[in-house]
Formats: sequence, structure tokens, C-alpha cells
Amino acid sequence: MNGEYKIPNHVAIILDGNGRWAKKRGLNRSLGHKAGFENLKKLSKYIFKKGVKVLSVFAFSTENFKRSKEEVDYLMKLFTNNFKQLIDHNSDVKIVFSGRKSNLSNEVLAAMHEVEEATKNHSTYLFNICLNYGGRADIIDATKQIAEDYKEGKITLEDLDEAFFQKYLYNGIPDIDLLIRTSGEIRISNFLLYQSAYAEMYFPSVFFPDFDEKQFDLALLEYTKRDRKFGGIKDDCKNN
Ligand code: IPE
Ligand code: IPE
Ligand code: MG
Repeated sequence: MNGEYKIPNHVAIILDGNGRWAKKRGLNRSLGHKAGFENLKKLSKYIFKKGVKVLSVFAFSTENFKRSKEEVDYLMKLFTNNFKQLIDHNSDVKIVFSGRKSNLSNEVLAAMHEVEEATKNHSTYLFNICLNYGGRADIIDATKQIAEDYKEGKITLEDLDEAFFQKYLYNGIPDIDLLIRTSGEIRISNFLLYQSAYAEMYFPSVFFPDFDEKQFDLALLEYTKRDRKFGGIKDDCKNN
């Protein structure tokens, strides 16, 4: 608890509605993405300040390559030029990227590498940016790695259980406690499928660039009211 709020360990956000945010203002979709990135910079700091230990965000899905070349190019340039602004040397936030490296340009890969390197010794908070990410691809890639390790005799079939499998997913990301999708869409769109098994879900109607600190507090308030049961009958049954 933090004051009146219960604080989730892992918050995951599907950053949706940048395009509609721009359209509503008569602007090009690109400006919506720019506003979304600016918001992410501020909001991520606030979320960690609240005591959330792990923050995952969906920045670009494997399926987003279906969009126009102009939009994909803009997004990749935005990532390449601005990711380093997420590095905060006064905080202890480790930044990692989850997703397939294939299809990404050397420029964006270099920017991702720079950010990961600069924060690799941080350990209090984890900022997981899902880029060229698909939940199914995550599961397939983990399965392939497990098969390889099995073939090489590094693991046995007896090792394999749910927690063991989860560690093979990109960056071994833990279970999600609170999953937020902005813009009013009520679907997962291939986000962290395995890790969202028992996530509490929250679907505010505001577009991502408008999902500010106040909006996040509302999400926390809603989360605080939820009665988590994990298949049992009361909130703390997971530990019983
Ligand atoms: C989310 O905003 C950002 C990405 C998917 C990269 P959208 O671009 O999906 O915005 P809408 O859904 O078209 O409003
Ligand atoms: C999901 O949003 C992916 C990201 C936010 C990066 P989309 O806007 O791509 O999802 P759909 O197409 O509406 O399901
Ligand atoms: Mg969208």
C-alpha cells in the first residue's frame, strides 16, 4: 500500500490511441506518436515514483509493420533519436527491450543497445519496452530455446514447469498485476499473453497522450478496489 492505494508490482500498458489523438486535433498521425512518446517519458517516471517495480509498455507490435511505410519509418526514427531520453542516471531503472530483433534497422538496434548498456547495472526498477513484440512470437521463441537447451542436454523434461517456462520468455518478465489499455479498445492485441494470465485489466477511454498522472492514479484506485482471487476465494490466497 502507498497511502490509499494498493501498489501493483508489475504494470503493463498498451499505449494506444496516438493516431486518434492526432486526428481529433487535425494533425498528422506522426504528431500523435510524438505526443505519446513525450507522455511516456513523464509517466514512466511517475509510475516508478509510486513504487511500481516493473513497467512494461507496448511500443510497437510485430503486426504494426502492416502500417504505411511512412508511419513505420517515422516511428523507427522517433525510437532511434529519442530512446536515450529515457535513461535516468538519478534513478535505478534498468531498461530492457522485448521482441524480435529481425526486421529492425541497425540504427534502431544501436539505439536500443545504447540504452540497455547504459542502464544494465541498475536493479531496483525494470522498464520493459516491447518493440517488434508479439505474445505468440515470445512463446514460440522461448519454446525453440527450450528445445535447443534440451537437445544439448542442458535441461531435462522434469525441469519444465510454468515458472521455468516463464524465465525463457524475453527478459524473463514476471506476471502482470495491472494491465492498462488506453483509447477504449478492449482487447489484448497479442501483448504479453503468458504473463497476463491473472492480470487485472483496466480500459480507460482516453487516448495515450492524455493518459497523465491523474489518469494513472484513477487506474490505481480501480486496482485497489479489485478483489484478486487467483482461482481461490480471497485476496491473499496466492500465498496460502
Ligand atoms: C498506438 O497508437 C501506437 C502504436 C501502435 C505504435 P495507434 O497508432 O495505434 O493509434 P490509433 O489506435 O490509430 O488511434
Ligand atoms: C497494439 O495497438 C500495439 C501497440 C500499442 C504498440 P494496435 O493499435 O496496433 O492494435 P489493434 O490493431 O487496434 O488491435
Ligand atoms: Mg491503435
